[in-house]
Amino acid sequence: MDFSELIKKRQSVRNFNGKTIDRDILDKCVEAARLTPSACNAQPWKFVVVDNPELVKKVASCTYGPIARFNKFTDDAAAFAVIVIEPGTLASIAGAVYSNLDYAYMDLGMAVEHFCLQAAELELGTCILGWFKPKEIKRLLNIPMRKKVGLLIAIGYEKEPRIRAKSRKATEQMSSYNKY
Ligand SMILES: Cc1cc2nc3c(=O)[nH]c(=O)nc-3n(C[C@H](O)[C@H](O)[C@H](O)COP(=O)(O)O)c2cc1C
Repeated sequence: MDFSELIKKRQSVRNFNGKTIDRDILDKCVEAARLTPSACNAQPWKFVVVDNPELVKKVASCTYGPIARFNKFTDDAAAFAVIVIEPGTLASIAGAVYSNLDYAYMDLGMAVEHFCLQAAELELGTCILGWFKPKEIKRLLNIPMRKKVGLLIAIGYEKEPRIRAKSRKATEQMSSYNKY
């Protein structure tokens, strides 16, 4: 698939059909994340893929609460990727302090997008989740409490696949040449 087509195809999917996902498909998405560039090649991530149906349901229930219900759609997800932030290298940590920029979060964001783009190419829907209950997820998946969960990806096949138009800032608003 042409890359510009793939970018349009990748969208947040919030209507999963419940169909299970083959491991080799999930493995390809993990491989795409593995190849992501990162500051000083620190690769400060661990992708915990959850595809055990019972655990999937439990992770889903950690992505919404009685008031914040907007992630309730994850009840129909077939899998999750839970991305844990791992320590960087000495060089990436020193660089981040010197630059006052959090490279680990940037790295993580790119790895998540690699995962989602690969998933889209394989006709698999994803939704990146920044809202979840970190303590409950850590308890569920034996992630040490001192570690930080950066993002989740809800994964599944879309009920009625349809590419939506993207709602984005205008090009002139988000970019310029030669001056701010
Ligand atoms: C860091 C991050 C956190 C997000 N958290 C959520 C979330 O908790 N729930 C949700 O439904 N969508 C979430 N999204 C999806 C965004 O709402 C979505 O990417 C954005 O509206 C653009 O739409 P698109 O992904 O369909 O192109 C998140 C996206 C990112 C990048």
